[in-house]
Amino acid sequence: MSHSSAVVHATKAAGAQRGDQHAAPLLEVRGLSVVYDTASGPVTAVDDVDLTVNRGEFVAVVGESGCGKSTMLFGIAQLLSSPARVCAGEVIFRGQNLVTMNDAQLAPVRWQNLSVVMQSAMNALNPVKRIAAQYADTMKAHGVRNKADIRRRSEEVLAMVGIDKIHLESYPHQLSGGMRQRAMIAMALLFEPELILMDEPTSALDVVAQRSLMLQIKELQERLGFAVLFVTHDMSLVSHFSERLLVMYAGQEVELGETRRVFDTPAHPYSKGLLEAFPSIRGPKVPLVGIPGAPPALSAVPPGCRYEPRCPLAYADCTTVEPELYEVNGVKARCLLYSPHNRPPADGAPIDPAQVPVPASATLLPVEATAKESER
Ligand SMILES: Nc1ncnc2c1ncn2[C@@H]1O[C@H](COP(=O)(O)OP(=O)(O)OP(=O)(O)O)[C@@H](O)[C@H]1O
Ligand code: SF4
Ligand SMILES: [Mg+2]
Repeated sequence: MSHSSAVVHATKAAGAQRGDQHAAPLLEVRGLSVVYDTASGPVTAVDDVDLTVNRGEFVAVVGESGCGKSTMLFGIAQLLSSPARVCAGEVIFRGQNLVTMNDAQLAPVRWQNLSVVMQSAMNALNPVKRIAAQYADTMKAHGVRNKADIRRRSEEVLAMVGIDKIHLESYPHQLSGGMRQRAMIAMALLFEPELILMDEPTSALDVVAQRSLMLQIKELQERLGFAVLFVTHDMSLVSHFSERLLVMYAGQEVELGETRRVFDTPAHPYSKGLLEAFPSIRGPKVPLVGIPGAPPALSAVPPGCRYEPRCPLAYADCTTVEPELYEVNGVKARCLLYSPHNRPPADGAPIDPAQVPVPASATLLPVEATAKESER
């Protein structure tokens, strides 16, 4: 272990107590709900989400713009600010409930055990400070004072993301977009965290830079052993990188399971629609279809299933009965097709997800419909 790594470990040990929590999930989110207090009343942007992330696991969160991905991530990291607030639920990280901790208690957890990489490094990095100074500030804030140690660790993390140490003297604007995102990831690695929350870290990059950054994140994750909770609106981006996938729609989780399984046999009609909206690089040429309409405003979600107005498989019960998460073929899906009581009236028999038809009413090429407004 290098001297600077030893410093990092010593600092971590002095922070939150470690305990023997190796058997338990690293992160356990239970019934997390987040509201925005607006002039017309509270708007629930994250509704009763349950999620676990195991040590060293890569879990992806996908869904259209506005479905609550970032709000959930910030709710987990306790980085929400007014008008947003956690209104219910627990975030158990390494055995501690972050929701009930104050800033002083959270300080040793943030950066050291859990760090966050934002969508745009340009917004997250200080534009008037050199990279070296920003890394030094972070380390000093967590008790590392020795200048040589700070320098050594800064060079180490920058090397991990393939950036020459010369760029410690650069200002953020002097780096390319891909390098800035890498510099942010390097900063997140300063204390060897066990979990990194990433909010669309590649979405501002072109496809080539995106792919290269994803490969680098995966390589680092496997080498250093940290877990990742990765938010994206691009399902295809995470198909080869994540072990499990959480699909969100209108503030709720609608499907959760192994990534391979969700890609091969999506259980929820929305997951199926999202998959049909992205071109396959290797598979046969097929016309791209997508999801008609738009998600509901979270201030006025429809009764019954929130996806009903867009779902080609909807039937009468879908307009009145709110689906729960049902276990189906090893995944969880929030769809009445799998409910024991409210299946379509025709036969009432259990539904096989592989037999759920592709949305027939889909319109052509709505890939952009799943992209962020700002990127159009
Ligand atoms: N400042 C705010 N005030 C009120 N409501 C807000 C505010 N910010 C977000 N919301 C609500 O929270 C919802 C979820 O927003 P969030 O940014 O978490 O979505 P997202 O899935 O990350 O979208 P994107 O893909 O565009 O980043 C929005 O649809 C909106 O209804
Ligand atoms: S509950 Fe009904 S409307 Fe909702 S996704 Fe399932 S079939 Fe479609
Ligand atoms: Mg977001």
